[in-house]
Amino acid sequence: MSISNDKWLWWKDGVIYQIYPRSFYDSNGDGIGDIRGIIEKIDYLEYLGIDAVWLSPINRSPMDDFGYDIKDYRRIESIFGTEADFDELIKKFHDKNIKIIFDLVMNHTSSSHLWFVESRSSKTNPKRDWYIWQKARRGKYPNNWRAAFGGRAWEYDKITGEYYLHSFLKQQPDINWRNKELRDAVFEDIKFWLDRGIDGFRLDVVNWFIKDEKLRNNPYMIGYSPRVYDMQNHIYDRNRPETHDVLKDFRKLLDNYSERMSVGEVFSPPPGDPRLSSEFLGNGKDQLDMAFDFSLMYVKWNAKTFYKKISNWLELIPSGGWPCHVLSNHDQPRQASRFYKKNYTDERCRILAVLLLTLKGTPFIYYGEEIGMRDGKISRSKLRDPLGKKYWPFFKGRDPERTPMQWKNADNAGFTCGVPWLPVNRDYWKRNIDKQIHEKNSLLNLYKYLIELRRKEYNLRRGEIVFLEKGDSGVLSYMRGDEFEIALNFDNGVKQYFPRSHDSEIVFSTEMFSKVTESKILQPYEAVIIRHNQQRNS
Ligand code: NOJ
Repeated sequence: MSISNDKWLWWKDGVIYQIYPRSFYDSNGDGIGDIRGIIEKIDYLEYLGIDAVWLSPINRSPMDDFGYDIKDYRRIESIFGTEADFDELIKKFHDKNIKIIFDLVMNHTSSSHLWFVESRSSKTNPKRDWYIWQKARRGKYPNNWRAAFGGRAWEYDKITGEYYLHSFLKQQPDINWRNKELRDAVFEDIKFWLDRGIDGFRLDVVNWFIKDEKLRNNPYMIGYSPRVYDMQNHIYDRNRPETHDVLKDFRKLLDNYSERMSVGEVFSPPPGDPRLSSEFLGNGKDQLDMAFDFSLMYVKWNAKTFYKKISNWLELIPSGGWPCHVLSNHDQPRQASRFYKKNYTDERCRILAVLLLTLKGTPFIYYGEEIGMRDGKISRSKLRDPLGKKYWPFFKGRDPERTPMQWKNADNAGFTCGVPWLPVNRDYWKRNIDKQIHEKNSLLNLYKYLIELRRKEYNLRRGEIVFLEKGDSGVLSYMRGDEFEIALNFDNGVKQYFPRSHDSEIVFSTEMFSKVTESKILQPYEAVIIRHNQQRNS
């Protein structure tokens, strides 16, 4: 048996759950989820069995980009609660051995951050160079860069007659990581949270941190969409090599503390760029602990494609590094909507759950994924996301994947007793946590079961992964260690499947124990976990 004694390490062995705080649970009836709401739902999180929560930003913010525009890195936004509420959250979660991951939004601040207020006040202000300021070039914008959220990346500021850079909204000026004092100040803010007990960080758009020193024009290319932004090859405003030096310093800071973790959002447009993501892991020990590869957010439903994307990603992880996997987040349509198939969406969600929780690498679950939440339909008048407002109807923004958690079949799905900040998805009466807790075979209880199994079984967490069926026949299968064989039928048809050992038993099936070992049949959309007994007993 290939059991080794690697010690349990929460971010490698555990399951991480992303909470979008505005939408999780509202404790005070203002329609917006809050910290006390998260505390009140701790029993649910314990029931599900997750090991850590990643909280989308809860720092003080004018909410131009719903928290991804921070005004004060050391304070909690009052919409979400008080400092005392947050201390209580840390204490209660730690008491239950649930870790807390903060969202570190450090490519930009809010334009109302005091650093920026000072920086823009005069060309000679000591913080002037903390942001990226430029004179007009030949009476025009400093270069051809565009903002990811539309328009030019340069905003003219009357106070000093210069432009500042903003990669997203104009209310989100980019900070200048090349400035040593700025870097020290940012690191002090990070230390502040480490000292306060935060266990890890998700780094927002980490591949954006440093810009070309000469601010050269991006070349043009054929893009994946007709937006000018998408038709530029972002070689000068993203993915600059110097970013890795920042991350090495960041890692040294983190390593002064015990068992803290970092995971980077390495943004790349469809179809994703796993090679780029893996670069942010450095040699596996000197930069980020983990990085997201978004390839699976962009794929079509197809076993072969899934195989290619997953195996490619795993091969790119440096030795000593560790992978993670994510299927949904607050920026992309939910998996149940992306992989919608009339009458079979729930089956597909089950396959995805088994996949996510049996792959080698840390699973990230987005709130509501465990009950198969779909994207909400938001009418134009109810839109909140600045992106949706700008690009409607071509792109409806990110509100659909941010609708309130569906707790029960009650007003506003039990999320709030007030008016929810975004409308609750209309299907809440049939898709909610309360209902699924009580249904033995619900998707929620499937997640719960698999999380528990993963916790119990070393090989499901740390065992090597070797692919067996590579999707050609619609089936994807793989070994974890020499003990578990996982087979996923991506198709809506019956498939023959021959387990690789004669002496094996089915530990789990989405079909509630069909007879794979006897009849060697996988039912449509069936996923099974098979244990090889010989290995187990040897
Ligand atoms: C990535 C975040 O995930 C997204 O929600 C945000 O709008 C941008 N970064 C800008 O901070």
